[in-house]
Amino acid sequence: MSHGPSAAGGALVRAPEHAHAHEPYEPVFVGAMKQQLDETVAKYPAKMAALLPALWMVQESRGWVSDEAMAEVAEQLELTPAYVKGVVTFYTMYHQHPVGRHFIQVCTTTPCNVCGAEDVVKAFLEETGCGELGVTSSDGKFTVIEVECLGACGFATPVQINLDVHESVTPERVPRILAALP
Ligand code: FES
Repeated sequence: MSHGPSAAGGALVRAPEHAHAHEPYEPVFVGAMKQQLDETVAKYPAKMAALLPALWMVQESRGWVSDEAMAEVAEQLELTPAYVKGVVTFYTMYHQHPVGRHFIQVCTTTPCNVCGAEDVVKAFLEETGCGELGVTSSDGKFTVIEVECLGACGFATPVQINLDVHESVTPERVPRILAALP
């Protein structure tokens, strides 16, 4: 059973209304951030090798990676915006739209699925108030998506919330996990 969009190489997160309201773009790589990028670039033999960390810096700073930010990264690293977008859309870890403060990824690949991952997804959608996959809760706190194998198949169902992985999650554990989030 599916609850809406899932992610398999590029997180399918729905753009909230006004997500692309057009305020002037403020560059990320100025001042200390530019210095940090230059230091990162200097560690590699070629500028393009710093692409993943540069995108990560954007996401840590802005919460997501907009088309304008991709263009800025492309300019900084002497790449095309299309190349940068290709990389951003390949990885589920980069958000192409604003997401909730707690980004919840539930593995629903077959081994976890047969162990009840769909019920875990359902519990997260209900308890967070998101209702549907890829939709951010009205308080801005949560976004839930399905992802492919998280590499913890022996601990079904694994759930990654931002950078933390919770193993052996059952629907019953979901309220406690959410309550413990900062
Ligand atoms: S199939 Fe779910 S973690 Fe591998």
